Amino acid sequence: MPSLPPDDASGKAAAPPPARNTLLLRGIGLAVLCFFGFTAFHLVRDGGMAGIILAVLFGFFALRASAALFFKGGVPVLASGLFERRAMIRILKQAAKESGARPFRVADLGSAGGALCRSIGRAIPEAEVTGVELCAGPHNWARQMQRLFGPKNVMFVRGDLLAHDCSGADAVVMFLSSGLTLRAGEKLARELKPGALVLANEFPLGGGWEPVEVIRLRTPFLAKLHVYRR
Ligand SMILES: C[S@@+](CC[C@H](N)C(=O)[O-])C[C@H]1O[C@@H](n2cnc3c(N)ncnc32)[C@H](O)[C@@H]1O
Repeated sequence: MPSLPPDDASGKAAAPPPARNTLLLRGIGLAVLCFFGFTAFHLVRDGGMAGIILAVLFGFFALRASAALFFKGGVPVLASGLFERRAMIRILKQAAKESGARPFRVADLGSAGGALCRSIGRAIPEAEVTGVELCAGPHNWARQMQRLFGPKNVMFVRGDLLAHDCSGADAVVMFLSSGLTLRAGEKLARELKPGALVLANEFPLGGGWEPVEVIRLRTPFLAKLHVYRR
């Protein structure tokens, strides 16, 4: 079983150039934060236990929205949805069974708070899951959650996914911006071993990859899962 590695030597990772839609998303984050903050302020001012409870809830959503949308790497710190997560785990389970690789090495490029990694680790005990995350906040949260609740076959490293060596991976999953998914594809085309599986949530890979399947999920946002084989 892998032990938790320390943060990289410098404790810092170089941020890639921000995506073009970053400003728009940050604007939405600010608007959401203002809305919930303003509502919470009025609830507290109006008094009453119910108002205070609601204010705490609204305050929590305000913090959650700002944490999700005031990101550093050009990609919001949001987890894949339930349906996408289920579909990814089903495909990974099948791939682990077919490949016979023990451990079955999975990398989540841009792992945010680590929820997807933990779900994969629990669902596939023969997997060894590594989450790579650029931002310190979600990375530290992921490590603490893993320390407290496991599972033991998951670990998190802090760094730039474009610099992370994926040559040993049997499967790679990602949910990034369109630009970063294109760049990740180019890197994976150079690095991955034959037979390795790639699951790209929402956007297609760059680097000349042809999907073996594009799964359209019936989610509110009509999510797409691109499935590739090296
Ligand atoms: C949308 S979240 C995906 C979380 C998780 N993979 C999932 O599907 O539930 C994308 C994460 O990628 C991270 N990220 C963005 N650029 C990155 C980079 N260059 N290297 C590592 N992580 C990065 C963001 O900070 C964010 O937490």
